[in-house]
Amino acid sequence: VLKINDGVVKNTVAPSLHGIFFEEISHGGEGGLYAELIQNRGFEESRIPPGTVVENGQIIPKRTPHYNMNGQATDWTMPWPYTSDYPYWRLETAPDAKINIQLTQQQPLNSATPRSLKVNISKRSSSGKNSLVNEGFWGINAQKDAVYNLSFYARTDAAWKGPLTVQLQTKAGKAIAAYTFNDVKGAAWKKYTCTLVPSETDTAAEFAFHFGSTGTVWFDFVSLFPKETFRNRPNGLRKDLAEYLESLKPAFVRWPGGCFVEGINIESAPNWKTAIGPIEKRPGTFSVWSYWSSDGFGYHEYLQFCEDIGAKALYVFNAGVSCEFRSGTFIPDEELQPVINDVLDAIEYAVGPATSKWGKVRAANGHPKPFPLEYVEVGNEQHGPFYARRFNRFYDAIKKNYPQIKIIASMGIGDLNRHTLDSIRVTDYADEHAYKSAWWAFSNYDHFDRYKRGDYDVYVGEYATNAGVGKGNMLAALNDAVYIMGMENNGDLVKMSSYAPLFENTNTRHWPVNLINFNAGNSFARISYYTIKMMNEHRADENLPVSLQVIPAATKKNKFAGGIGLATWDTQTEYKDIEITQNGQLVYKSDFAQRPGEWQPVRGQWEWKDSALAQTAEGAQLLNILKDKKFESYTLKLKARKLSGFN
Ligand code: AHR
Repeated sequence: VLKINDGVVKNTVAPSLHGIFFEEISHGGEGGLYAELIQNRGFEESRIPPGTVVENGQIIPKRTPHYNMNGQATDWTMPWPYTSDYPYWRLETAPDAKINIQLTQQQPLNSATPRSLKVNISKRSSSGKNSLVNEGFWGINAQKDAVYNLSFYARTDAAWKGPLTVQLQTKAGKAIAAYTFNDVKGAAWKKYTCTLVPSETDTAAEFAFHFGSTGTVWFDFVSLFPKETFRNRPNGLRKDLAEYLESLKPAFVRWPGGCFVEGINIESAPNWKTAIGPIEKRPGTFSVWSYWSSDGFGYHEYLQFCEDIGAKALYVFNAGVSCEFRSGTFIPDEELQPVINDVLDAIEYAVGPATSKWGKVRAANGHPKPFPLEYVEVGNEQHGPFYARRFNRFYDAIKKNYPQIKIIASMGIGDLNRHTLDSIRVTDYADEHAYKSAWWAFSNYDHFDRYKRGDYDVYVGEYATNAGVGKGNMLAALNDAVYIMGMENNGDLVKMSSYAPLFENTNTRHWPVNLINFNAGNSFARISYYTIKMMNEHRADENLPVSLQVIPAATKKNKFAGGIGLATWDTQTEYKDIEITQNGQLVYKSDFAQRPGEWQPVRGQWEWKDSALAQTAEGAQLLNILKDKKFESYTLKLKARKLSGFN
């Protein structure tokens, strides 16, 4: 019997409920949303990251003072993975050619990105290859008749005469677009540009320089963009991927992480100030996800994207805490003020008047009007009293200068209701991260019902069904849908949410289940994407109280009848250790092989075939035993707790 209490509104559902969370993970931005097609375009990626030192031949991060989440000193250090000197670039030369390459910091293009590539051609092959090749991001998407804008910086010695041919080519080396420069000459750095238009489509093409004479050529910042980007912005975004995001109609965009924000150590954490301005002067970020981001999709581009799709910006900043394998490394409290100032500068860049120090920089970068920054989040997945003290300082400084900005406390993975906010005095939102396994939402539909109200609103900054569902399937989407319904049903508390992770370049997956998958030439969104889209497009405005009374079908309580066992429980109950006997003989004993000894939740009326146990191998076996024994009587014995009202 379903009763809907007409006319009485239980609560409203916030229009801000569905946002998106972009993180630079699995090449979601670099080689993904960011439309650049050359990987390691500035030859900076082999560089030892900032803040590292070499001890006894080992590259290790510089030792900042280390503290764990409770403020105790730790001595953790982490070695850096070392990549090759020229990742994603290679020479392709015939045996009779003599060409070598070398990274150099002599006569740099600029001091922020000091490395360039020196190519010395001491002997050319007259009939074979004399090439330097970039493989792109696991291929370059070259589409027939589309226009690609190439730019690069070069300087040469006097021996070099040219010409220099640039080419999009198949893996086998067949040219599908080419342009020849006869003017690449001179001892000073100069920018060269051209367009390339492929004569055929190859979604796994490569880019190459072909050397037409002997001599020495230095290269820096080799960049290739499709002419067509999202909203046709220069230094823009890949259209198909940006359109997925736009059509979700997100209320906000959280950026740029995630663990990405935390940095491997404090010195290498992302820095918004080095991720604005001329792209060839951005040093890039080597993150916990073990690859470089060029930061071409930097703070300005992110804010611009929010404006373009009508979403509010939610900027997550590093709170003076780095990841260091989740142990948390805090800079000392007395060194926090510069970090706080940096955040205030970031907010001023986004929303300050064009006459303010950082508003002026924004205007010089082409955007005099403020950007729609509405939220900031203090760190990622940090909690505990040490974090709380720090949070309070950020909160006070931000609210004093920007009372309109809403502030989010990051609270880690798990049930926020079980954590305390320690000594956080006040926050607008607390961010719970919720990675769940298959079926979780079905038996925890009331998860948010149990939260206490009044202190803060909840932002579920990262949620996904990502265990027991392969790479994401219909079951995952259904579990996500039920989870979303639980949030909607608690619209007075849960005001914002975002699925995570958003993107996966299928060549470099860092997380088991991701919303949108792509490679250089193709992309598709998983079922959960369409679930969120549908639920956002048909979001309820209000919740009406509903009561549901289930009248059991004619069956014997607490007995299994024909394998459709039906037991009635009138409140929350958990069970484990099931034994079923018939005439004193054991026919089934659970061993909970998947989760030994763990209590299993049961809610309301429990139908055996829908229970968590029925999904296990034991459950299937038991159903099999019972299926043809229609009217026989069995005894079910189990351990249960919270038993109020067990019939
Ligand atoms: O979404 C992937 C990771 O999960 C995020 O970087 C981190 O915040 C969380 O632990």
